[in-house]
Amino acid sequence: MRTIIGIDIGGTSIKASAVSPNGRLLCIHTAETPKQEELVCVLESLVRLCKADAVEAGASAAAIGMGSPGIISTDGKVLFSNNLRMRNFDLRAEVEKKFQLPTSLLNDAFCATLAEYRFGAGRGVKNMAMVTIGTGIGFGAVINGELFTGTNSCMAGGHIITHAGGLDCTCGSKGCWEMYASASALIRIAKGYAQKYPESALNAKEITGLAVADCVRAGDRAASEAMQEYIANLGDGMVSACNILRPERMVVGGGLSGAGELFIEPLREYVLNKMFIGADYAPLDIVCAQMGNAAGIIGAAAYASRMIE
Ligand code: BGC
Repeated sequence: MRTIIGIDIGGTSIKASAVSPNGRLLCIHTAETPKQEELVCVLESLVRLCKADAVEAGASAAAIGMGSPGIISTDGKVLFSNNLRMRNFDLRAEVEKKFQLPTSLLNDAFCATLAEYRFGAGRGVKNMAMVTIGTGIGFGAVINGELFTGTNSCMAGGHIITHAGGLDCTCGSKGCWEMYASASALIRIAKGYAQKYPESALNAKEITGLAVADCVRAGDRAASEAMQEYIANLGDGMVSACNILRPERMVVGGGLSGAGELFIEPLREYVLNKMFIGADYAPLDIVCAQMGNAAGIIGAAAYASRMIE
């Protein structure tokens, strides 16, 4: 069996695993994300561990697929990463030179989209879009069965402007969708409502997306109002994305998707109500992602598999 090493480089940690052709992970290894100068060195130790797993399973490692946040050119250069604080870094070429294995690098949200399309919530449709909710907002699309990444892979859906003249974004613009609909935005919004309602249960816990969802379930007023505001922020960006792409399925991953229907049901209603001519003529499913934390690794490996097919 030939495995592919999938690596998901995030703002705080890196996860890597050898991945079998049917998308199964042999063993996940993690490391803290270092500074740019030490990145290849950290990747080297992760690749060694993954190669050893492959050998132990009687397999080999035939390629390396990496995913990372930021604008990654089609030839695998990190042109600009607001989250990793990198610019013009030829990461793909450096890794390929070091390991002498075919290597690819793709935006993290495009990787998650590919993973969901091949193995998860996107199976069975030809047009799909995905939004990933984390520190930022990631966005990916499959059009007519092909991953769509924009010219030189520069599509950046999280930076559509939903609030003109609004909050400063890490990308240098103002009012980007991710400033209002990322997991960090939900926490900021919830903190505001917790202050407004001192009796709220939110004041007694560390505020995370899932904690807000738990409080909504328990009928907490501050949490419910925060969630309503947040769903409108997330929904408005999704309406714009759906009006442009008109996918058959919109997959929502990361952060709050763990809260399931409590979160997806009102989001679905919001988007379907606001979308141009509704969904009567072109049905749209809005569903939670299925691949969880492994989506980045699996999608990165799936993308790299093109190089050895
Ligand atoms: C970045 C994207 C990334 C997304 C999710 C955004 O801030 O600009 O490139 O896909 O966060 O990590």
